[in-house]
Amino acid sequence: MKNIQISPSILSADFSQLGTEIKRLEEGGADMIHVDVMDGHFVPNLTIGPPVIKALRKHCSLKFDVHLMISSVHKYIKAYADAGADIITIHPEATQNLEESIKMIKDLKKKVGVSLNPGSKIELITEYLDKIDLVLIMSVNPGFGGQKFMPEVLDKIKQLKKIQQEKNFTFDIEIDGGINFENCKIAIDAGANILVSGTTVFKSNGGDIKKNIDLLKLK
Ligand code: DX5
Ligand code: ZN
Repeated sequence: MKNIQISPSILSADFSQLGTEIKRLEEGGADMIHVDVMDGHFVPNLTIGPPVIKALRKHCSLKFDVHLMISSVHKYIKAYADAGADIITIHPEATQNLEESIKMIKDLKKKVGVSLNPGSKIELITEYLDKIDLVLIMSVNPGFGGQKFMPEVLDKIKQLKKIQQEKNFTFDIEIDGGINFENCKIAIDAGANILVSGTTVFKSNGGDIKKNIDLLKLK
């Protein structure tokens, strides 16, 4: 049984203080930092790119769990690897050749994740499950923090968990979007072992990050 990890999303952080914010996450017991990269094309929002990730790299020793919500992602992978990403997660719909993109991330010695939007089927990625380190199941339509959790995606997590156990695969199952104290247990029970959370970690309990992370871990 994999231990439960929390990957707080900095999309909900104070963008004018990102260096301090990721330090707060590290001190609060985050297991990694979820960095939401958006290009205003693949998703209707625009956030940060390689220069910001490079600047943040020296302020934090935690792994950067970089979620690339960008079109034509293949040609940008190396820039994010060079900027300091540790896990690079891409959407199958954002590359011409998923196999090639997975290979490139691995050749760059980074962990590779593939993300499925609520409307995307598991069949898009089943043939790659033996090659990847992480599956990121979106429980909101990507683009913004603070959206409502979509419980229908839990079936995908259960399906993935079944495949993982039957085939002895080792990929992590990460869930992302609308995770809070009410639904974190059902997400974990379904098979997720990494929870992404932005709003709940930064905004609940007066912004007590350590308390919020512990609560999400069901401590
Ligand atoms: C949405 C992002 C999520 C989001 C999570 O496109 O991929 O990581 O920031 O934020 P909350 O936890 O507020 O839904
Ligand atoms: Zn994300």
